[in-house]
Amino acid sequence: MKICCIGAGYVGGPTMAMIALKAPDIEVRVVDMNATRIAAWNSDQLPVYEPGLDEVVRQARGRNLFFTTEVHEAIRASDIIFVAVNTPTKTYGVGSGRAADLRFIESVARTIAEVATTPKIIVEKSTIPVKTAETIKDILSANAKGLKFEVLSNPEFLAEGTAIADLEKPDRVLIGGERTPGGAAAVEKLVGVYARWIPRDRIITTNLWSSELSKLVANAFLAQRISSINSISALCEATGADVDEVAHAIGKDSRIGPKFLKASVGFGGSCFQKDILNLVYLCEHFGLPEVAAYWENVVKMNDWQKHRFAARIVRTLFNTVAEKKIAVLGFAFKKDTNDTRESAAISVCRDLLAEHAKVSVYDPKVPADEIKRDVLGANGTDARLSIAASAYEAVEGAHAVAIVTEWDEFKTLDFQRIYNSMTKPAFLFDGRNILDLAKLTEVGFRAYGIGK
Ligand code: NAD
Ligand code: UDX
Repeated sequence: MKICCIGAGYVGGPTMAMIALKAPDIEVRVVDMNATRIAAWNSDQLPVYEPGLDEVVRQARGRNLFFTTEVHEAIRASDIIFVAVNTPTKTYGVGSGRAADLRFIESVARTIAEVATTPKIIVEKSTIPVKTAETIKDILSANAKGLKFEVLSNPEFLAEGTAIADLEKPDRVLIGGERTPGGAAAVEKLVGVYARWIPRDRIITTNLWSSELSKLVANAFLAQRISSINSISALCEATGADVDEVAHAIGKDSRIGPKFLKASVGFGGSCFQKDILNLVYLCEHFGLPEVAAYWENVVKMNDWQKHRFAARIVRTLFNTVAEKKIAVLGFAFKKDTNDTRESAAISVCRDLLAEHAKVSVYDPKVPADEIKRDVLGANGTDARLSIAASAYEAVEGAHAVAIVTEWDEFKTLDFQRIYNSMTKPAFLFDGRNILDLAKLTEVGFRAYGIGK
């Protein structure tokens, strides 16, 4: 069997590397129009940082895993074609700011229709609005060659930073297909790929629309938990309750469960906000404004939390941070990734710069030019924004230090040394609640956590 994946990003690269590792008899090609990205996949410096990914790629690359820009050739050669292109929020026209931009999906469908010479199974790996398979099928069936295509939905549930573990032992794999003999056969073929390493009872098969919608709903439910606990963090700060203690107490109820209850400076990442806005747009489209408003509040609460964190810093530093140095530790949207898409750090840095603070950022994995581009835009400049090569450099002379990403290395910093090098009084804001505030206070900091 030969498969290919169009889109060599955070999903396409790791997912296909895992399939290649677990199914050495399947030839796997990962293709992308971005030649720089493909070159990086073929080098020692992979374009995606993920613990364990290097090792998986090293084992399979050149054996049955290939990264190439030859999109047409890969389409022609493959029995199964995964589509893992980006589906960002639309920034123009109807649905701007909410709907998913499906132009990359559509362009891939057109290319497949044009280039394929034999029947194929097309697998939606990208997260897309429910009913997208219909569009893809429409475009594919307009091919002049009379070829038959089956379209499946197989959303990806991996989280960045734990992608390899998630792919190796997923809670479930979801495959949606048409309830026709051809659809059922295509589903079985894809089940056969995953069944090489995933127990059958973890492979769920549904109709197409349930599968497409389940992905949006899963992300909406996860993000909702974070917004819920973050809303309570504000109440904790006002009342003296401790949000981690509250989360622990409620999470012990087996009906609630302990996961995804970590209060934070706000969720980031390329998925949660985009997918909820997409859900909101769909609800509006289908005439369900109350449902749309309900889910939109999850995003509104998240925005509020990010601004609330920066506002608290300003308020605590005597209502002015103008020309004060503030160290921001962490810029990625979570630990163990170099991805900064929708990172809360972007919002925090912008709010502080708007108050004329001098912001010094340190992140172990995000390059300096990426940080500047994210905060200031492609051509923006601001002399108050600087990038440090270490946490110790970032905090030198600072009035305050804000932890925005929960990188493990921040837990083991020498906080006495940090305190000594800062301007007094020295303030610490733990946006992830990863530090022991009592110990920091002993060191001399005025220390604040989220919901504390
Ligand atoms: P990404 O931006 O990292 O990668 C997408 C890649 O597709 C890019 O390299 C781009 O060059 C390529 N591409 C776009 N159009 C192309 C075309 N016509 N031909 C060839 N290549 C093309 O995106 P990602 O983070 O990997 O996400 C991909 C999809 O998976 C999105 O729909 C996303 O919502 C979903 N998803 C992402 C995650 C995640 O953790 N990042 C998790 C689950 C699902
Ligand atoms: C998410 C989903 O978890 C995954 O299933 C889906 O495939 C893609 O979207 P990802 O965005 O990569 O994955 O990471 P995730 O671990 O979900 O974290 C998202 C954001 O929420 C991060 O900024 C994280 O720090 C934050 N978060 C997570 C919290 O603030 N509190 C929590 O309790 C959990």
